Amino acid sequence: MSKKLIAPSLLAADFGNLQRDIEMVNSSEADWFHIDIMDGVFVPNISYGMPVLKAISKHAKKTIDVHLMIVDPDRYIKTFADLGSDILTVHYEACTHLHRTIQAIKAEGMKAGVALNPHTNINVLEDIINDIDLVLIMSVNPGFGGQSFIENTYNKVKQLKQLIADKNTNVIIEIDGGVTNKNAKQLVDAGADALVAGSYVFKSDNQLETIKDLKALANS
Ligand code: DX5
Ligand code: ZN
Repeated sequence: MSKKLIAPSLLAADFGNLQRDIEMVNSSEADWFHIDIMDGVFVPNISYGMPVLKAISKHAKKTIDVHLMIVDPDRYIKTFADLGSDILTVHYEACTHLHRTIQAIKAEGMKAGVALNPHTNINVLEDIINDIDLVLIMSVNPGFGGQSFIENTYNKVKQLKQLIADKNTNVIIEIDGGVTNKNAKQLVDAGADALVAGSYVFKSDNQLETIKDLKALANS
């Protein structure tokens, strides 16, 4: 069994002390930086954009995992590659020509991910699963940190695990939204490989310990 990964979401970081929070993640047992880009159109919130990601890339010493919650993401694929993204995930619901988008992400040398909203069935991935590196299952409705975890996520993870086995491929299953020590183990047992955690990490008193404990739980 390969190691389960922890991806702190900088959406919950202290933007007045962003470099400090990036260094915290650098020195922690976390595996990835999770970067949430929101455009105020695909989701009812605007997060941060290119100049902030450029600053993050300058200091981050781990994989940069970018989650695009924007319409028509094709417009910015090259830009996100140039800004140092290692993984670029687009929403199924935001892409009319998803296959083309995935090929464009790979052509820029990044790993390609597809995110699904809570209401989107796993079976929409049947004809794209062999082309992608990662599936991000939203366990809250995208747009905000600090929301409650949707319990149906466990079923979706199991269905996705089955689809991946049926298609004889190798795809990372990432879970995003409301992840805490209360659901981490059950998510991993269902088949999750990577857990995003925003509020749970950054609102805790001892962030390094929280990451360490979450990682230990995910790998127990
Ligand atoms: C929500 C974002 C998440 C968010 C998770 O739309 O995609 O990555 O930062 O935050 P928490 O862990 O607080 O639910
Ligand atoms: Zn996210």
